[in-house]
Amino acid sequence: MPSAVPACADVPQPAHPLRHRPVDARARYRFVRAETLARVQGLTAEDQTLQSMPDASPTKWHLAHTTWFFETFLLSGLAPGYTPFDPHFRYLFNSYYEGVGERWPRAARGLLSRPTVAEVMAYRAHVDRAMEAWLDGGALDAHTAALLELGLQHEQQHQELIITDIKHALMLHPFPPAIFPAPAPAEPAGQITWRAVPAGLYAVGATGKEDFIFDNETPRHKVWLEAFEIADRAVTNADYLEFMADGGYRRAELWLSDGWAVVRAQDWQAPLYWQRGEEGAWQVKTLSGCRPVDPNEPVCHISQYEADAYARWAEARWPGARLPTEAEWEIAAGEPPVERALDDGSFHARVTAGFYGDVWEWTASAYTGYPGYRPPDGAIGEYNGKFMSGQMVLRGGSRATPAGHVRKTYRNFFPPATRWQFSGLRLARTP
Ligand SMILES: [Fe+2]
Repeated sequence: MPSAVPACADVPQPAHPLRHRPVDARARYRFVRAETLARVQGLTAEDQTLQSMPDASPTKWHLAHTTWFFETFLLSGLAPGYTPFDPHFRYLFNSYYEGVGERWPRAARGLLSRPTVAEVMAYRAHVDRAMEAWLDGGALDAHTAALLELGLQHEQQHQELIITDIKHALMLHPFPPAIFPAPAPAEPAGQITWRAVPAGLYAVGATGKEDFIFDNETPRHKVWLEAFEIADRAVTNADYLEFMADGGYRRAELWLSDGWAVVRAQDWQAPLYWQRGEEGAWQVKTLSGCRPVDPNEPVCHISQYEADAYARWAEARWPGARLPTEAEWEIAAGEPPVERALDDGSFHARVTAGFYGDVWEWTASAYTGYPGYRPPDGAIGEYNGKFMSGQMVLRGGSRATPAGHVRKTYRNFFPPATRWQFSGLRLARTP
């Protein structure tokens, strides 16, 4: 049953120094909320109710949950006289915040035929009106402004999940619809070249100059790195096809034990969304239709197990090849992220050379707190810290990642068997 709506005093007050650069809060709120809706333009109401697996949520749930965040953490405690749209929504659209109360099970979100998509859109409009009226009411103190920005960054994280989750659902359809424009062919990737990074004591983590950071990017701290080299581009489909042709999915010696167990249990033979065409050549299902695998695109939709196995296989060609640690990745990520001007609305990774930010890159690092890390007090402290177990770090960003989230210190994290995110890899090696 839905829990009672807590009193205003339950609104969390993050002790952590959430930081962001002052902006026109109302304009920024509108911009982020509009971007979310832009991403779902091509979806039917029926599409938006699908839940294809426990890890993925219906589009409709994302639209409501991001709205719930503003209602729960801002409006309910800070906007005088605010009336919740529907008290049941506090239960239905709480994701994982124990501090907010009970919640509907994650794996059963697809069973929520009610509220309808139209009602969720009315919920968004209700909260938007209240938020904009509240933002018109005067300047926010630093703490409240930071909480608002956290809500916007949270919505942007869900913008990416909206894409990855609906992709997983639609790709299970026997005739997947093309809901986005097809990308242009990828530029030739070229051979991997290696950039040497000398051994030394390096500082990693947020510098304080970022427009915004999540708590898990702090504290900045020093790490000793032995000399290493890092590839100038992500691993391509052409690279990965060589691994597959060399028996990559059939050679137990290339795999971590847990990874090999998943390969066997799931009968993995290729990245997620790949399938054999009539002529036997590999094709890839995308949000803009099914087409031949482009050898120049970065390999995408692979698990950390597959990334690790590929790196082990690649050692025969490049002695010392392996996945980078997240600290190595951060120190080596000197190039600017992928030009967002290349965004073509396809939500499909296709750039490798000289960039990061087109495909998430698995690292060899387990997701843990940095030395001295403390989550914020209150329910907001549940945002990142409680997930620091059993997950691996990815760095960079993908075509589905909002531009402001692509930065050197950003830490994405998923369990190692995860494949439905836009995940690939870049090699490092020990000279
Ligand atoms: Fe969330």
